Amino acid sequence: MKKRVLARLKQGGPVSGEELGKSLGISRAAIWKHIRELRREGYQIDSLPGQGYVFVSAPDSLLPEEVRTGLETRVLGQEIVYHRTVTSTQEVAREMAARGAREGTIILCETQSEGRGRIGRAWASPSGGVYFSIILRPLLRPTQALRLPLIAGLAVAQAIRGLTGLKPELKWPNDIIINDRKAGGILTEINAEVDRLHWIIMGIGLNVNTPGGLLPDEVKDLATSLQREQGNPISRVSLLQGILTELEQLYEDFRRSGFETARLKWKSMSYTIGKEVTVCSAAEEVTGRAVDIDSDGALIVVKSDGKRERIIAGDVTLKKNPGESDAG
Ligand code: BTN
Repeated sequence: MKKRVLARLKQGGPVSGEELGKSLGISRAAIWKHIRELRREGYQIDSLPGQGYVFVSAPDSLLPEEVRTGLETRVLGQEIVYHRTVTSTQEVAREMAARGAREGTIILCETQSEGRGRIGRAWASPSGGVYFSIILRPLLRPTQALRLPLIAGLAVAQAIRGLTGLKPELKWPNDIIINDRKAGGILTEINAEVDRLHWIIMGIGLNVNTPGGLLPDEVKDLATSLQREQGNPISRVSLLQGILTELEQLYEDFRRSGFETARLKWKSMSYTIGKEVTVCSAAEEVTGRAVDIDSDGALIVVKSDGKRERIIAGDVTLKKNPGESDAG
């Protein structure tokens, strides 16, 4: 009922308690109770004497009802689990996936106390960011899954570009770079048998309206937020909706027609290709010029001896030109 009260108020007002009660079939006292509850959640609803209630603004939170309103996806985000704060959305997603949560379920929060990044790093998750994990269940072999993190990075970059005037770039495999600093990253975890993928959990973390002071000291020079780059705050709900829409489209195209279209789009937004890099993986360290992404999503590096290396996983460091900063 609270959602219906909110939906009616959002249609426009002022609307009196009596009129609201009549249209929804509940008493004025019950309407008042729901308005009070909505205000407590952060909705600004004004009361105009003699006229009624007016919807002014929604809270800057990722409440599921806000995310659902206007969300145009068919699968991604149709099931939303929301926690104001959580250890890590990856952990919740993993438990839910093991219990059979359906494809497209997202786990969403405002802050994480134990946010996780790639390669065992921590992911600082203060309020103002967008942190969520998506459960996917594609019919793929585990080796084919390498392309999905790239597809997710592309979806995030396209959504940022669509919503802001910014020009995000992609650092292989899937860091989101804006003006040479990292604004977001993606952690992909899979559960699989040798030849069969059970599920993928795609964890996306973005510094959106994150005040610079809340970013940890060790990454302050390397990290940024969308607000810092754009100069004004960004609607986190619209951004999340944009990411889900872009990702659903790219994910469907990928399953229907393969990786080639996404690969070319990824390359057109690449921050890595054409640069001198060092890539560290568990097995080796490779230095050379990044020249391409192949049809599996692997990074192709040409070493100084002219030999081509194909790298399927690792952490890329870009060679700095004197006076240039590195996005890490
Ligand atoms: C990276 O190291 O670049 C990847 C960062 C991924 C962070 C996201 S935030 C939502 C999800 N939950 C986590 O604990 N990590 C991912």
